[in-house]
Amino acid sequence: MDAKSDEIKKEINRLKKEKDAVILAHYYVANEVQDIADFIGDSYFLAQKATEVPQQTIVFCGVSFMGESAKMLNPDKKVIMPDMLANCPMAHMADADYIEKIRQEYDDLAVVCYINSTAELKKHSDVCVTSSNALKIVRALPNKNIFFIPDENLGRYIASLVPEKNFIFNDGFCHVHKDITKENVLKAMAEHPNARVLVHPECTLNVLELADYIGSTSGIIDYASGCDASEYIICTESGVLYELTMKNPDKHFYLASSDQLCPNMKKVTLEKVRDALINEANVVNVSNDVISRASLPLTRMLELAR
Ligand code: 13P
Ligand code: SF4
Repeated sequence: MDAKSDEIKKEINRLKKEKDAVILAHYYVANEVQDIADFIGDSYFLAQKATEVPQQTIVFCGVSFMGESAKMLNPDKKVIMPDMLANCPMAHMADADYIEKIRQEYDDLAVVCYINSTAELKKHSDVCVTSSNALKIVRALPNKNIFFIPDENLGRYIASLVPEKNFIFNDGFCHVHKDITKENVLKAMAEHPNARVLVHPECTLNVLELADYIGSTSGIIDYASGCDASEYIICTESGVLYELTMKNPDKHFYLASSDQLCPNMKKVTLEKVRDALINEANVVNVSNDVISRASLPLTRMLELAR
């Protein structure tokens, strides 16, 4: 660790205590930011953690839908984002008017909203899901018809496991996962013939078909940590490699392509975390009207996933 980063980390730790703040970080943020987090996890773990921590201020090292969800689950707390412009493009890839149109067309419908979505989209949804709890939640819903927004790939993967329900898909996607191609994975498999292939369900179906394991970021880390194999091809954002190698120093992890980087997650830097704590300026604001409606699918998720 260089001396400057070390200094900033010390300052962050001091500020955290002084301001009664807790730092939550997603596995996709930069390694040095993961280092100063009190809790690191996948989207479900972090949403859950946000409801449990005693501190009055939550610094969310991730993208805006994560900070927004934390705020909606804890309206009385202050939620701060190190970079307010760290925004997941997929979170915007659905349309409220279209959701309402689908509601008119189908009886017995549940609008299932991936947590990677804006508060505005959550307002029009019945339940939220993450990649680690979507299967459990969709199976638990009484409805025959499921409109899955915004991610088509996760929706199609869940649909393949729940054939008894009728799915309507939306055409949203994560560019980071969509850009991991079948050819990338086949090439990596040829180079590392003994490696297990671990894939996030935001990847396309033809990549999922090559997987030994499909799961969320935490699922991928848990699978590799509990498995005897010594080599793994990782098909998700490269930030997970930090925890994977820390937990498994004797195992080898390979990325399927050189582009597995989320530019928005990487906007979060140590300097920005420190400045956010000092200035307390990047406060997540969600109106009470939005919270009253958009928090319902989130709390329903926490209940059904429990
Ligand atoms: P999970 O951590 O829930 O697997 O989510 C991945 C992701 O893309 C978050 O933006
Ligand atoms: Fe959004 Fe994909 Fe980045 Fe996750 S990895 S924040 S889904 S763009």
